[in-house]
Amino acid sequence: MAVMHIPGHEHQKPREVTLPEIWNVLGNCQRCPLGQTRTNLVFGVGNPRARVMFVGEGPGRNEDEQGEPFVGAAGQKLNSILAEAGLTREEIYIANVIKCRPPGNRNPRPEEIEACSPFLREQIRSIWPDVIVCLGNFATQFVMRTEKGVTKLRGQMYQVGHFQVIPTFHPAATIYHPEWLDDLVADMRMLGAWLAEHPAGGDGQ
Ligand code: URA
Repeated sequence: MAVMHIPGHEHQKPREVTLPEIWNVLGNCQRCPLGQTRTNLVFGVGNPRARVMFVGEGPGRNEDEQGEPFVGAAGQKLNSILAEAGLTREEIYIANVIKCRPPGNRNPRPEEIEACSPFLREQIRSIWPDVIVCLGNFATQFVMRTEKGVTKLRGQMYQVGHFQVIPTFHPAATIYHPEWLDDLVADMRMLGAWLAEHPAGGDGQ
């Protein structure tokens, strides 16, 4: 499978910072105005040693109420497509680019992403997954350091420093664009195939 290499990310696993330590630094975060309007900060959930980390955009209404990512309609969709990769929610880790819900589910603003970015970056470094699946444009642009969108980039894996990166459609987008679902499923099958070809511990981890 052709893998495109994008320079600029570290290859060496950095000093271990635990997820609770990162969460602790976030605290009752007021680094951007979303701190005033959120109900709950949505840090992330899942296996701290996950081989696959999924990155979404930001909490919606249900996530804001419950403090967990992908628990609403987008979460139902995510659960069903995970099976296409042979994965369960318990195996993976899920986080968002921004940790607090933008009012009315508007897009995150650049300054909000900027204020929140150290926390996702540290989560990725802590988990140090083999594969990062970017759900939608915000996650893709953050992880791949690009301005391109998923429509252009999806359908293949990219090597970004240590990580294999799969940019794909956001599950919520397939609710409004059902014609994108086949592509999302194809990307999940590509992930499943890669995992089968690269068993855990195969590179000495
Ligand atoms: N959409 C996201 O991007 N993240 C969530 O946690 C829920 C919906």
